[in-house]
Amino acid sequence: MSVTTMPLTPHVGVEITGLSGKELVDERAAEDCRSALRQYGVVLYRDVHIDDDDLLAFSRLLGEVSIVPTGEHEYPEIQTITLDPTKTNALLASYRQGNFLWHIDGATEAVPQKGTLLAAHEVDPAGGDTEFASTYAAYAALSDGEKAEIEGLRVIHSFAAAQQRANPDASEVERASWDRVAPREHPLVWKRRDGRRSLLLGATAGEVVGWPNDKGNALLSRLLGWCTQPQFVLRHHWHVGDLVMWDNTGMLHRALPFEPTSRRLLHRTTLVGEEAVA
Ligand code: OGA
Ligand code: MN
Repeated sequence: MSVTTMPLTPHVGVEITGLSGKELVDERAAEDCRSALRQYGVVLYRDVHIDDDDLLAFSRLLGEVSIVPTGEHEYPEIQTITLDPTKTNALLASYRQGNFLWHIDGATEAVPQKGTLLAAHEVDPAGGDTEFASTYAAYAALSDGEKAEIEGLRVIHSFAAAQQRANPDASEVERASWDRVAPREHPLVWKRRDGRRSLLLGATAGEVVGWPNDKGNALLSRLLGWCTQPQFVLRHHWHVGDLVMWDNTGMLHRALPFEPTSRRLLHRTTLVGEEAVA
């Protein structure tokens, strides 16, 4: 079967068809994926049914794979993204409430992950689509005045800020666990080595450095609203067997609502970041 590439919206997302999960574990397929990712931000392989060994092997062809020692999967590189406490532990399931809010993975780290891969093992019959918003496209569409207004601003990102929004009724034990992740200051505008610019925003973005809280919150929520307008957004409806990956340095993303009792289960790997936020 020949390999075809089909853009999914004008600004974000491409579908690559014609490859099985096994066939992705190939240097040529990985190079095509990297270049599609640079151009489109999100790459969808529909119905590829990639197993864990191939997911890991394909991820390794794309970059260094993060080790996340939460013990949720026999491979420390794979996370099981689900709310179902029988498939994960209760604390991880509670953290994953944060996935319902627009965010960037690893925004509290010095170098956020380069990319994230999700392979669908079980899907929700009624909800749980994933949305992606291109902050490259959204930044480029700002007026010169708006770009000047945000130039040089810095933002404090924290796990606690994101969890507080997602989980306002959390217990003391949960709250104490949030604070174990140190907050991180990043520039709002991420100037990339290749000359592009993206925005570091989302649920972890708690305050604009040097601004009063209400003014900072107003700016952050205005920008988030700007970036997540329909013209910058791709909505992915999952089928079992789909593999989706995204350029985490430019795509905000979130899960759309589904029941906490849902069987929805995605296997995830992330790629270690290669570019510090500057
Ligand atoms: C993630 C994430 C969204 C989803 O795994 O990083 O944000 O739809 N997932 O599960
Ligand atoms: Mn995420």
